[in-house]
Amino acid sequence: MVKTKRRYVCQACGSVTHRWQGQCPDCAEWNTLAEDAPATVFSLKHDLSSGGRAITFEALDAPSDPLVRLPSGLAEFDRALGGGLVPGSAILMGGDPGIGKSTLLLQTAGAVARAGASVVYVSGEEAAGQVRMRAGRLGLADAPIKLAAATGVRDILTTLGQGAPPALLIIDSIQTMHSDTIEGAPGTVSQVRGCAFELIRYAKENGVALVLVGHVTKDGSIAGPRVLEHMVDVVMSFEGERSHQYRILRALKNRFGAIDEIGVFAMAGAGLEEVANPSLLFLSGREEPLAGSAVFPALEGTRPVLVEIQALIVKLQSGATPRRAVVGWDSGRLAMLLAVLESRCGLNFSSAEVYLNVAGGYRLSDPAADLAVAAALVSALADKPLATHAVWFGEVSLAGEIRPVAHAGLRLREAAKLGFGMGYGPVEAEPDSPGLNYRGLRRLANLVDRVVAEE
Ligand code: TYD
Ligand code: MG
Repeated sequence: MVKTKRRYVCQACGSVTHRWQGQCPDCAEWNTLAEDAPATVFSLKHDLSSGGRAITFEALDAPSDPLVRLPSGLAEFDRALGGGLVPGSAILMGGDPGIGKSTLLLQTAGAVARAGASVVYVSGEEAAGQVRMRAGRLGLADAPIKLAAATGVRDILTTLGQGAPPALLIIDSIQTMHSDTIEGAPGTVSQVRGCAFELIRYAKENGVALVLVGHVTKDGSIAGPRVLEHMVDVVMSFEGERSHQYRILRALKNRFGAIDEIGVFAMAGAGLEEVANPSLLFLSGREEPLAGSAVFPALEGTRPVLVEIQALIVKLQSGATPRRAVVGWDSGRLAMLLAVLESRCGLNFSSAEVYLNVAGGYRLSDPAADLAVAAALVSALADKPLATHAVWFGEVSLAGEIRPVAHAGLRLREAAKLGFGMGYGPVEAEPDSPGLNYRGLRRLANLVDRVVAEE
């Protein structure tokens, strides 16, 4: 017995309900539920234990083909991918509008094509002339890319099927693609899923490295769909502040590599430039020692990046509720650190506004930033600059102790490489960086003594 059931899919978040509602119960968007193709429901009586074909089981240690990767032509892209594009795999490239996804992929297409592999770039958003103009600006006008402005998946696959498959196929973007076998406008969940399915199947069958550009909704997830994230092998996110120059490429899911490596780029007049030494970019012109500024040796995967943390404390005269504003760090964590500084170190922030900023628009999630944030806060409160040549790292517990963190050696080596002569961190860390003095701090109170005592 086969029954069918009505399904309604939210076009914003992809969640499924069986009853139409004005508001999505999951993401609370209005008027986003649309009826989807019915899912087939088998009743329990249905017998699936006969009539199928036998499948073969294989041993885990059976020999398999080694993974041969296709270099993207951009070292930072390859780094974020864990070593280059994998033929027969699909990458979803997400990012805010205008962040530079099309630019990045056109540069990749140009580099791969110039290296002799065949590349097809399909734009569903821009006319061929617009893409050509951008290619001219990027110095890629003569790169042998096959360019098309198209949105019909059937047309694209029919055309590709007539020749040898390309090594790299770029679809910009999956939300503009349309399949005539599926109902609904381009960009709806069923269209996005159906088009992606067909394109991914083509890529897998023909050993093509496929890149799908995906739009990001206002809450930061890729529009349409979680389902898309499950279908592809790699999910990448291209991030940055549009008003700042630099961009970070990060893998959120990677079936072929680690997800903790980043690629760093800077958007310039002639496209994206690779940034091999990100520390220099994030340390914003530090010359004069200023109160409220501390340098934190952050880690992105195994890559150390020095970032500057800035704090500003404004004492309030009136009894108004003081503001706490954070850019680039977690506001809950700031509240916690302020509470620890108040209760364990006797400092008073209660009648002061606190502003915290991570320079360059960088976002920190590493708990090891606690000590650097605390140092910036104490320095701002005391109005005393920290030594300019020092870096700070360590996790702060609620009891006000400084806890050990991973990769202390790596962090300090990067600092020493960039000319920092002093490191403060957990007592457990044993650095082996020549040219850098290290002082372990046991408690947050030791930090306060140090800042206040330092001349
Ligand atoms: P784009 O790649 O179109 O972004 P997306 O595809 O993610 O929407 O990039 C658009 C921005 O990049 C645009 O605002 C201009 C800027 N840009 C440069 O600064 N320099 C360049 O050489 C190019 C091509 C773009
Ligand atoms: Mg684009």
